[in-house]
Amino acid sequence: ATTLGASAAERGRYFGTAVAANKLSDSTYVGILNREFDMVTAENEMKIDALEPQQNQFNYANADRIVNHARNQGKKVRGHTLAWHSQQPGWMQNMSGSALRSAMLNHVTKVATYYRGKIHSWDVVNEAFADGSSGGRRDSNLQRTGNDWIEAAFRAARAADPGAKLCYNDYNTDNWSHAKTQGVYRMVQDFKTRGVPIDCVGFQAHFNSGNPVPSNYHTTLQNFANLGVDVQITELDIEGSGSTQAQQYQGVVQACLAVSRCNGVTVWGIRDSDSWRASGTPLLFDGSGNKKAAYNSVLSAL
Ligand code: XIL
Repeated sequence: ATTLGASAAERGRYFGTAVAANKLSDSTYVGILNREFDMVTAENEMKIDALEPQQNQFNYANADRIVNHARNQGKKVRGHTLAWHSQQPGWMQNMSGSALRSAMLNHVTKVATYYRGKIHSWDVVNEAFADGSSGGRRDSNLQRTGNDWIEAAFRAARAADPGAKLCYNDYNTDNWSHAKTQGVYRMVQDFKTRGVPIDCVGFQAHFNSGNPVPSNYHTTLQNFANLGVDVQITELDIEGSGSTQAQQYQGVVQACLAVSRCNGVTVWGIRDSDSWRASGTPLLFDGSGNKKAAYNSVLSAL
């Protein structure tokens, strides 16, 4: 096939992108989105601060613009993200203890219920593990409500939308030898052992020279899959340019294709100019919307 989404579909996978609602009026952007991708993640519009700006007052307008555009175009949607230490509204940042636990669970329940039946996979919890060598949890207001906050969020999400795959999503979990990767692995192993409803692990996959695509990426994805969960590349971008960047992109796609439980790949934006990275050229299309070498290497890998 001649597009990312159609080629991925031939391999039983999806190929997605992050989408910003305020770019849905940009015809170049929408042209590439509609042509190339069959999965969509809202870049910011389904985060807690966007959906629940005041406690228990929900605003779905911008998220719905993205979800409706995707569904009208026959594309699937990844939900991102129900519980996270970052991009919390002010009222939640100032909460703690059982009040925060209840507010978090209310958010999970209300949002997952609102979108029930429309979401392929939810990032139920995002970035809950610490960087560095501890392999333990990240300190946050949510973590301080008790170590069981993650499983509580998953149980609430399952009850609200039994049809969505429920994912744990994080970054710097790509290299099998890193403590953070091992920490997440042990949590997923524990959840599967105890029957906590988890279906998938998302690997953000933000790569740069200090955090390159690991040579053992396939091992990491396969080891997680062997726990009985699906794996997904959820926010892929790779700093660099030319053939070096193209080879790295190809390696990530090949690692996913080599793991039968890898459902698909999502890039974190369309053109280099759409990237959250302040500088650089980490995506598959240049600022004018032309296909880069990285695009061609991904398409040929699919
Ligand atoms: C980023 C967005 O791309 C930016 O527009 C926003 O300012 C900050 O968040 N990990 C995640 C994503 O899970 O939600 C982040 O998205 C990038 C890192």
